[in-house]
Amino acid sequence: MLTASPLTLNFGVEVSGIDLSPAPGQRTVAELLRLLDTHGAVLLRGQNLTPDSFLAFSRHLGELAAPPERHVAHANHPELTLLSNIIEHGTAIGIADSGSPWRMDGAHLKTPWRATALYAAEVPEHAGTPLGDTWLASSSAACDAMAPGLRDQLPGLRAVHIHGAGRKKRSTPFFPDSGLTQIFRKGVEHPVVRAHPVTGRKCLYVNRVSTSHLCGMNDSASDALLAQLYQHLDQPQFHYRHQWQAGDVLLWDNCATQHRAVTDYAWPQRRLLYRTLIKGLAAR
Ligand code: SIN
Repeated sequence: MLTASPLTLNFGVEVSGIDLSPAPGQRTVAELLRLLDTHGAVLLRGQNLTPDSFLAFSRHLGELAAPPERHVAHANHPELTLLSNIIEHGTAIGIADSGSPWRMDGAHLKTPWRATALYAAEVPEHAGTPLGDTWLASSSAACDAMAPGLRDQLPGLRAVHIHGAGRKKRSTPFFPDSGLTQIFRKGVEHPVVRAHPVTGRKCLYVNRVSTSHLCGMNDSASDALLAQLYQHLDQPQFHYRHQWQAGDVLLWDNCATQHRAVTDYAWPQRRLLYRTLIKGLAAR
């Protein structure tokens, strides 16, 4: 029987009593999605999955995106990205460093990815301590706890998101060599306070990786307000640090949750995580 217990005071649940290796039934999947919508993150430990069974499980959560990083995808499955520092035949098989700034996956898209699913196949360690943790932050809890002086500046405010361009000024020619689609050069707009597509809960939807600037402000006013918002999200009461064990499945919602990686390991310590991205739902 499925049971859920809190990961932190503010968000996240650990679910036990489910084996994901035979893909779960409709009622279990519906319950996992409900927990994900309600709590922002769901952890299931002790799973024993292959790339195929992880994919099969992920497909039950929704339609999968095939991200552009094909060179780090599983050979037969473009929807399965490898997060790994393993080198095979002189070639990196995966993304070795996912990055340390807080971010939401897919914020550069008109309809951002709904959720990210990770499965830990190999976890690096030193003297018995796991390395390569992943941090999560609750952007909905951060939104709820915002001081009025900051919150009052946000209604109606929108931000431009460009893939990987968060730290550039809008005057900088993004990707001048292009070949990329117009959407990558112009970016997409999202509300700074985005309503969660299912629950309607307010989430702080800006980050240092994809947010280029706030609309209707000059660069210095935009940078100053963004800095305050990042500082607000950076408070420990909104955070959860996940220490991986091989066999963990961690799901997070990309509206209510932000994430960042810790790259504190190096070869021959091996890290291999499988990642899938669940396509988004239209805004409410
Ligand atoms: C990610 O950023 O997609 C994964 C985080 C990690 O590698 O720890």
